[in-house]
Amino acid sequence: MNDSEKVIVKKGENIELEIESLAFGGKGVAKVDGLAIFVERVVPGQRVLARIFKKKKSFAEAYPLEVLRKAPNEIEPKCPAFGTCGGCRLQNLAYEDQLLEKTRQVRDLVQRVGGFADFEVPTALASPDAFHYRNKMEFTFTPNPWRNHPDDEDEPLGLGQHIPGRFDKIVHLETCYLQKPIMNEIMNFVFAFAEKHKWEGYNTRTHVGWARNLVLRYGEHTDHIMVNLVTKTYEKEHMQVFKQAIMSAFPQITTLINSINTRLADVAVGEKEIFLHGPGVIRDRLGDAEFEISAGAFFQTNTRQAEVLYEEALKGTDLKGGEVVYDLYCGTGTIALFLAKQARKVYGFELIASAVKNARRNAKAQGLDNVEFILGDLKDVLSQNVDRIEAADVIVVDPPRAGLHQNVVDDILKVGPKRLVYVSCNPSTLARDLKLFCESDYELISVQPVDMFPHTTHIETVAQLVKKV
Ligand SMILES: C[S@@+](CC[C@H](N)C(=O)[O-])C[C@H]1O[C@@H](n2cnc3c(N)ncnc32)[C@H](O)[C@@H]1O
Repeated sequence: MNDSEKVIVKKGENIELEIESLAFGGKGVAKVDGLAIFVERVVPGQRVLARIFKKKKSFAEAYPLEVLRKAPNEIEPKCPAFGTCGGCRLQNLAYEDQLLEKTRQVRDLVQRVGGFADFEVPTALASPDAFHYRNKMEFTFTPNPWRNHPDDEDEPLGLGQHIPGRFDKIVHLETCYLQKPIMNEIMNFVFAFAEKHKWEGYNTRTHVGWARNLVLRYGEHTDHIMVNLVTKTYEKEHMQVFKQAIMSAFPQITTLINSINTRLADVAVGEKEIFLHGPGVIRDRLGDAEFEISAGAFFQTNTRQAEVLYEEALKGTDLKGGEVVYDLYCGTGTIALFLAKQARKVYGFELIASAVKNARRNAKAQGLDNVEFILGDLKDVLSQNVDRIEAADVIVVDPPRAGLHQNVVDDILKVGPKRLVYVSCNPSTLARDLKLFCESDYELISVQPVDMFPHTTHIETVAQLVKKV
């Protein structure tokens, strides 16, 4: 048997591992004779006993059975559901260490995948709040909550978060440390009411049950509160009882909605929305720009850090007032509207019709007449419009995790803006795309990670490029 055929680890084997680092996505990395082993729910510095459950030629995957030695910087997670709930994977690392880990991942991808050897990436900008930063949370009702211990066995109802990789398993939560404290109070009130009135949690396997989701939104700068209860049917009389109870306990709720979802898919969006109280929307601000947020609308979930992210993007555009800007993948127009006051004209491009509708309404509400939104798939719609609209001096892109379609890269290169700002939620596709631009006409000026989601493995990054002269 030669070296390359040597069996280093086998599927089903228990093995002691030193966790060296975190890979992008949050799995720990250990090495055995050069073979990378990815381990779930661990942190660098731990020694663990783990079981190999997948073995491929170039890597293996394992899950931890026991922590044999703690990491020197490991801390006690705040949340009792840590390790079970899918929300916070890094809560047992001090926040400063989370930032260093995420920065290291971005730097590694930029240098290795992007080919920018030695390119310096500064430490990720910390979120102003490491806890209670989320302005929106979606919880799911279940008729059989995840049992952490035998005492839970007879619980007929739960309200909480999905367990990673299990669409049908929900861990019941009494506190979620990512959302505002008032949202926890409302969540517990709704759960107590549900228990008292014997609501039947919706079963995603059998599709039997009534109560599906509780979606809470909070306006960071306005203190508006939206409570959206998603159910299978509209029970008019019972909803009046619910409304009366919740509004007298929390008169500060500005909008109460009952969304009806009869579909099988497990999404917290209704086909019909019944406004039980208030206008059915809340408002919040990003910088000077005010937004109307409906139950189904996308809005950045960490308001204060979104402002930091957009300031970074604004810095990258270096706007003086006379420029034409394209905001590609503009969603509800948050970046476009943030930049509009500093530019001559902004064109936003977006695939989803309802987002474009929202963006147009938001622009109108803010009295901005130098913004135009164009609906369509960017792989076609940019090239279809470039002859009709003014050429861009600056382009900002904020694509989904898959990064830029090759057509979009080619079309941006054809437009040839002086400056390009890339806002990314996936540093690996960011690194790939930066390489494409820099192999052609652009030079990479800076890469700044911004931590929008403390305790999770996600990281946002803003990269600045300028056209070579
Ligand atoms: C990461 S979000 C950015 C949203 C916005 N910039 C913000 O900060 O709120 C990506 C956006 O790209 C849109 N999108 C995804 N694929 C697209 C495509 N092929 N063409 C145009 N837009 C697309 C999504 O609907 C989503 O609104």
